[in-house]
Amino acid sequence: MRDSKFLRALNLQTNSIPPIWFMRQAGRYLPEYQKIRKNYSNFLDMCKQPKTCAELALQPIDRFDLDASILFSDILTIPDALNLGLAFNEGEGPKFSNPISSPQDIKNLIPFDINALGYVFKAVEETKKLLPKDLPLIGFCGSPWTLVAYSIEGGGSKDFKKTKSFMKEHPEELKEFLDILSNACYEYLRQQVLSGVNALQIFDSWADLLSGNDLENFSLQYTRRLTSLLKADPITSNIPIILFEKAPKKNIIEIVFEDIACVSLYWQEDIGSVNEVLRNKYAIQGNLDPKVLLGSDESIWNETQKICSVMNEYPGFIFNLGHGITPDINPDKVQVMIDALRAEAS
Ligand code: CP3
Repeated sequence: MRDSKFLRALNLQTNSIPPIWFMRQAGRYLPEYQKIRKNYSNFLDMCKQPKTCAELALQPIDRFDLDASILFSDILTIPDALNLGLAFNEGEGPKFSNPISSPQDIKNLIPFDINALGYVFKAVEETKKLLPKDLPLIGFCGSPWTLVAYSIEGGGSKDFKKTKSFMKEHPEELKEFLDILSNACYEYLRQQVLSGVNALQIFDSWADLLSGNDLENFSLQYTRRLTSLLKADPITSNIPIILFEKAPKKNIIEIVFEDIACVSLYWQEDIGSVNEVLRNKYAIQGNLDPKVLLGSDESIWNETQKICSVMNEYPGFIFNLGHGITPDINPDKVQVMIDALRAEAS
């Protein structure tokens, strides 16, 4: 593991060829994923099969020779463990049959029981068994705020109206829920580390719903609470933490804080200017626009090389997409991106 380019980058070391992995690397754009997925009508049932999760996590590694793997699971396993009744039905996004719709629902929540997520930790163990010894495995969770947004809205949404009005009407109860989730995320990540993950990523995928003070008070504050719990615990204190904020309405420099090792940049961020302010303090992961992978080989090659030349010699650069790969992308285009990265740097 000491020879991992990915872990070296998280330690602010340079690599002649940057390490690469990408968000949602195991998923619907891969025909080998679809082949297994068609055996399950509810995606969550598939997540509850540790051996299948391990096989799915390995698919992009086998196909592309990537520098890191990510646990195959989902961020919504925690609200599911709180009995919100998660299902992913055919052709739909996530749906909760029992969402949080009043302050009383928060008071009535069952205590979080880490044992309800035993299938995730088994998936970590099974994945570690299959991975090459020197290939790191990333564990993850959603940020407390992002989990709140799904739990109140009852699923995905364009405007997250219910979440926003709950925030205005019941801020104190919302904060109690954020506390519960921060502690649950801590226990969850800790157990992932005990089961074998080598780095952690926190996805604040609904950071863009919040501006200014609200982003600070409802999201970042709780993410920091989570990371400070991880840093105070000898089991997790040395595990590097990567933070992804989707389209945040604040400058990255106002978001970063001591406990994180790396910022995963959204594709709209200008990696060139972030490079200057984070240099020698934080690793940077990112940030090719996933839509570039729908274009010509030539444009993929050019856009990949553009990022590489800006980040050339940056101490701690990890190439990634600026958000998850989408199901409409042809895996051959991913190979073009990888070839461009490895050609540019060598
Ligand atoms: O390689 C990997 O990254 C696989 C592991 C993984 C999944 N989800 C599997 C998955 C990870 C790290 C996630 C994170 C996740 N899940 C996030 C954060 C990242 C981001 O995209 O911002 C979020 C917001 C979710 C919630 C979620 N899960 C949604 C909204 C959906 C439905 C639509 C979609 O975006 O894919 C899922 C389902 C899901 N999670 C799938 C996969 C492979 C597709 C399920 C299917 O096959 O039907």
